[in-house]
This record gives sequence, structure tokens and C-alpha cells, in this order.
Amino acid sequence: MYKCTVCGFIYEGEEAPEHCPKCGAPREKFAQVSDDTKAKILRSRFSNDLHMELKSLLDSVLQIAEQGIEDNLDPGCVKVFTEAKDAAVLLGQMVKAELETHMKKEKWG
Ligand SMILES: [Fe+2]
Repeated sequence: MYKCTVCGFIYEGEEAPEHCPKCGAPREKFAQVSDDTKAKILRSRFSNDLHMELKSLLDSVLQIAEQGIEDNLDPGCVKVFTEAKDAAVLLGQMVKAELETHMKKEKWG
């Protein structure tokens, strides 16, 4: 596993590519990823995918809740949709914070 020191692109292979597929930097700009970092990256992929799937579902909840609030059938409905919206916003922020933490700790790839 090799990392482009210019843009952070992770390349998996026996040796670094001739040029970075993302930014075009030459092979010399690639550094081999340490075993420790590689293990963190591999371990985190599944969890990161789950976080992103969860965020996508929370975005759907948010859209539904906003439609429900706008529909405004009665106070009971609006209460449910308002609470759903608040929860989706809060959890969405928590997911983003968690993913940001993973990226800083190189639990990403
Ligand atoms: Fe790059």
C-alpha cells in the first residue's frame, strides 16, 4: 500500500504507480504505508462504509421530516416530524465528527 504525499491518494499494489491517478504526481512522491497504518486503514473501511450509509439514511429521514412539518396536518404529527428532524440533524453531525476523527487518525483509505 502506497500513499501519495502530494494529495493523500492511497494506492494498493506491489509497487507505487508511475503517476498518481488522482493528482498526477510522479512515483517518487509515493511513500510506502507502514504496516500499522495499513492495518488501521483496512480495519476502518467497514465502519466508515457503515457511517456513510447511516448518514445517507439520516438525510432521507431529514427530508421526510421536513415534508411532514410542512404538511402540518395536526400538532401531533408536527411534533413527531420535528423530533425526527432534530434527531437526524444531531446524529448526522455525530457521524461527520466521527469520520473526521478517522481521517485525522489515518483510519481511512
Ligand atoms: Fe496524488
